[in-house]
Amino acid sequence: MIILGIETSCDETAIGLIEAEGSNENIKFSLLSSSVNSQIEIHKQYGGVVPMLAKREHLKNLLPILIDVLHKNNMIKIENSEFMEDTLEKCKKIEYQKDLEEILAYFLENFEKPEIDLIAITVGPGLEPALWTGIKFAEQLSKYWQIPQIAVNHMQGHIASVLPLENTDSIKNAEVKFPALALLISGAHTELIHIESWLNKTKIGETQDDAIGEAFDKTARMLGLPYPGGPKISKLAKKAKENNIKLEINFPRPMIHSKNLDFSFSGLKTAVLYYINAQKNIDDNKKMAIAREFEEAVTEVLIYKLNKAIEIHNPKSIIIGGGVIANEYIRENILKIQETNPELNIFIPTKNMSTDNAVMIAMSGYISYINKEKFEFEANGNLDIGI
Ligand code: KG4
Ligand code: ZN
Repeated sequence: MIILGIETSCDETAIGLIEAEGSNENIKFSLLSSSVNSQIEIHKQYGGVVPMLAKREHLKNLLPILIDVLHKNNMIKIENSEFMEDTLEKCKKIEYQKDLEEILAYFLENFEKPEIDLIAITVGPGLEPALWTGIKFAEQLSKYWQIPQIAVNHMQGHIASVLPLENTDSIKNAEVKFPALALLISGAHTELIHIESWLNKTKIGETQDDAIGEAFDKTARMLGLPYPGGPKISKLAKKAKENNIKLEINFPRPMIHSKNLDFSFSGLKTAVLYYINAQKNIDDNKKMAIAREFEEAVTEVLIYKLNKAIEIHNPKSIIIGGGVIANEYIRENILKIQETNPELNIFIPTKNMSTDNAVMIAMSGYISYINKEKFEFEANGNLDIGI
């Protein structure tokens, strides 16, 4: 089955094409092509993602990205084509949904249907105006080409991002054995999911306030670093370690000793703020030290809670998903869990697959498709996972 994945839940417009086959015990994925367009440069000046701007950028980007993905897979010719040049030029001027609809309709009339069997589209969670652009685009393709579409939960996409994917350097070449535990750490989510089977998932822990990625981004902002701050904090923290720079105090490790598997990061953020406000000046060394101590605090909480969840639920596999797992220090520390639990299979996505992309949406779409799992074709900003 050839699957086209489409992702527009936040500030990345992404389309991916994969081939998938097999049943639950033996799924085989291979990558055909993928394209991700990040809107960071647009949102950076506002210090975070502006939903209506994200929507407009998705509208402009969707068709060029589709053309790019199909072209990379030799499904379309763009060289020396006036029609293609004209289409790409028109996309730059798109303002409204109806503009994209018109350009896409004209494009589809002039272009042979590619060999695609299923369209997988993110319907939530995320920014609803942004989600709608992808949903409407997918619907138009599905109707015109007369191929089925399947709605995908973005967080389930992050879970699927760890699965073996041929034609890439995907990290683990093993099947996920159930029960599995998933720790999802992204810009808007921090949650622990118990997975009995692909259809049977239960949320066993979540953040009570800020998500971990949000805490990274807010801390970065306090240090005067641009959005998204996660990767910048991570770079500063690394430099601090290389130069042996450490803060003279410890930030709190919120809820580390609480009885449940929930998280909280807003207190930590406030502690960073108080610390910064109490300083006469924050030079580069101080920034590095703060970044390092912040990274160590969140990592310690994550590892502690993950170990606790392992102790309680005794899973066979661990899955880590979401943009924050691009962080090297967190990756290293999670992989260390393997040393004390050699029988556990720990699945981590490659860095490319950690942050938002549409390949993971196509993979998750296939899993939902073969398991007959259905979500509405409607943007749902708060779409939850599990029961
Ligand atoms: O999964 P994702 O791409 O988008 C959401 O679905 O939210 O995650 C984005 C989040 C942002 O908060 C970003 O700062 C964080 O992932 N992030 C990182 C790193 N790379 C991305 N956080 C810490 N260290 C990183 N290296
Ligand atoms: Zn995400």
